[in-house]
Amino acid sequence: MKTIVVCVVYFCCVLLSNGKEVHETSHIVSLYRDRSQKNQPGRPYFHFRPLKNWLNDPNGPMYYKGVYHLFYQYNPYGAIFNTTIVWGHSVSHDLVNWIHLKNAIVPTKSFDINSCWSGSTTILPGNKPVVLYTGVNTKNQQVQNLAMPKNLSDPFLKEWKKYSGNPIMTPPDGVKPDNFRDPSTAWKGKDGIWRVVVGGLRSNLGVAILYKSKDFVHWSLHDEPLYFGKNTDIWECPDFYPVSVKSRDGVDNSVIRINLKYVLKASFKSKSHDYYTIGSYDAENEKFLPDSKGLTGSSLDLRYDYGKFYASKTFFDSVKNRRILWGWINESDSSADDIKKEWAGIQVK
Ligand SMILES: *[C@@H]1O[C@H](CO)[C@@H](O)[C@H](O)[C@H]1NC(C)=O
Ligand SMILES: *[C@@H]1O[C@H](CO)[C@@H](O)[C@H](O)[C@H]1NC(C)=O
Ligand SMILES: *[C@@H]1O[C@H](CO)[C@@H](O)[C@H](O)[C@H]1NC(C)=O
Repeated sequence: MKTIVVCVVYFCCVLLSNGKEVHETSHIVSLYRDRSQKNQPGRPYFHFRPLKNWLNDPNGPMYYKGVYHLFYQYNPYGAIFNTTIVWGHSVSHDLVNWIHLKNAIVPTKSFDINSCWSGSTTILPGNKPVVLYTGVNTKNQQVQNLAMPKNLSDPFLKEWKKYSGNPIMTPPDGVKPDNFRDPSTAWKGKDGIWRVVVGGLRSNLGVAILYKSKDFVHWSLHDEPLYFGKNTDIWECPDFYPVSVKSRDGVDNSVIRINLKYVLKASFKSKSHDYYTIGSYDAENEKFLPDSKGLTGSSLDLRYDYGKFYASKTFFDSVKNRRILWGWINESDSSADDIKKEWAGIQVK
């Protein structure tokens, strides 16, 4: 029923807009320009994608001052994956109609010159969003970096600056420099200290590597990962968040109360699927304790979706008290077809 209502609302919007651009400034173009691009067969109107080119993981989704933000791994040069990837950026007031902004984070510095890979946003006290993302540095090592909006009064957060002390995390012992990426949204413990997990592979175990920080700038490695899995290959895009056992409402990442369970999700690169398990969080010992075995690489592991769906990430929508899941769909065309149709990849929620 809900789907039907959404579709009706959507088609009304399309009819009202009459296929015309609804916004345009120097950096802003509307979804509807898309409708005139006749050389893009099969292009979806409903699911999110930029006007053209390659897209993969969703990054740093959030709600800020009346606006939903979605960043995504994007190749500005064409419809195939490129080793140089940037953070594309689009905003929406309703999660249906999107305004495409200029790229938010692009390779410019020694700590990200070879790519700006996936990451997440965390909203710090005082309603200050910050981004943690993976940079591929001059030596092709994966490091974690911090970026902040330049102007918090701009609800579109069009301009981003990188912290001058980057990188803030480098591959720890036992983790190869090309197996360390995709920081999650951080959460704050009762002790006021921030925690975040980074995906990786350590001694052949897929790991959610745990870091802690008092100020979000200086991070120290916790000696044990939050959780790990055998036989899974590297964990990409770990996501860790509370869910209520009493209500259908979503729960913000740093909420601490009784009647919560926790979801841990990891994207297993070798399988190209997103796996999750539910359990509890032992904050004292910094451990995730699954209710039953999960993320083991066995065929019993639970998947978010049994079709094509990868590198997903959730965020808490404070407007509607819900948690929204975004994921990347590689629609499986050949690279030659992608080049011909000028786009590849969509985001679904
Ligand atoms: C890949 O990125 C480089 C810039 O780093 C660009 O010059 C090149 O055209 C891109 N190639 C494709 C196929 O996207
Ligand atoms: C910050 O954003 C606000 C709202 O968009 C705008 O009015 C203001 O001029 C911006 N400030 C700077 C320094 O760009
Ligand atoms: C996309 O899907 C196709 C078909 O399943 C697969 O061959 C290709 O490797 C995938 N590409 C990526 C980047 O996952």
